[in-house]
Amino acid sequence: MKTALITGASRGLGRALARELARDGWTLVIDARGAAALGAAAAEIRGVAAPGASITAIAGDVADAGHRAALAGAAAEAGGLDLLVNNASTLGTTPMPRLADQPVQDLPGVFATNVLAPLALIQAVLPGLRARRGAVLNISSDAAVEGYPAWGGYGMSKAALEQLSNVLAAEEPDVAVWWADPGEMNTGMLRAAGEDADAAPPPEEAAAAFRRLVAERPASGRYRVADLAGAR
Ligand SMILES: NC(=O)c1ccc[n+]([C@@H]2O[C@H](COP(=O)([O-])OP(=O)(O)OC[C@H]3O[C@@H](n4cnc5c(N)ncnc54)[C@H](OP(=O)(O)O)[C@@H]3O)[C@@H](O)[C@H]2O)c1
Repeated sequence: MKTALITGASRGLGRALARELARDGWTLVIDARGAAALGAAAAEIRGVAAPGASITAIAGDVADAGHRAALAGAAAEAGGLDLLVNNASTLGTTPMPRLADQPVQDLPGVFATNVLAPLALIQAVLPGLRARRGAVLNISSDAAVEGYPAWGGYGMSKAALEQLSNVLAAEEPDVAVWWADPGEMNTGMLRAAGEDADAAPPPEEAAAAFRRLVAERPASGRYRVADLAGAR
């Protein structure tokens, strides 16, 4: 039985990936800040899970050290992790400003959620991941590498997450480290960014591609859903 911790799994990509892995029999630890939505997601995921797969849902903010300790504790209680998915993320300031107008005081919170929380979670579970030859999947964005106007605050945090992943991959030969761009998805985040979310594919498509990534365990590196085999 394999165990994964997926952050931000009450909706969108995190929920879709949790559903995929639960169907495959993974034991899951999932979180989100909103307890009611997380509870509803956990109930739905339990309904599709393979027999024997258990789903532990813990409400909280990944930027909070006490919450991260609770997540790591639940992972240890489940016998240790095979996979950590750092998926929870914030856009930061909305409507999204150009850099000339970006309130600098908003950026520490963006980095706390999108970069520092993933690193702290990695540190908390790394000994177990090494021992089990596990994997880390850090969800990034094309905004990490493209110069999209008004995506600078979020984009610089995703660029930092990517370089964190790049160095981690070089340092940890026993752990597969993937940093991955899911492409545009029809989720609340894309809608909150003011984009036409209805025109984007559902998060289930990226989740299916990530399910294959996890199953095939390719070398550490940057992956785009658009390039993964069998993607649309
Ligand atoms: N949607 C896109 O087009 C797109 C494109 C490229 C990359 N991405 C990336 O894909 C990932 C998933 O995005 P999505 O579109 O699925 O987002 P989403 O629909 O907004 O879902 C985000 C999930 O994360 C949770 N979350 C947010 N902040 C959190 C925090 N501080 N602590 C714990 N949980 C938190 C949310 O629940 P609560 O709000 O209740 O906490 C929710 O469950 C993100 O890393 C995003 O940057 C998305």
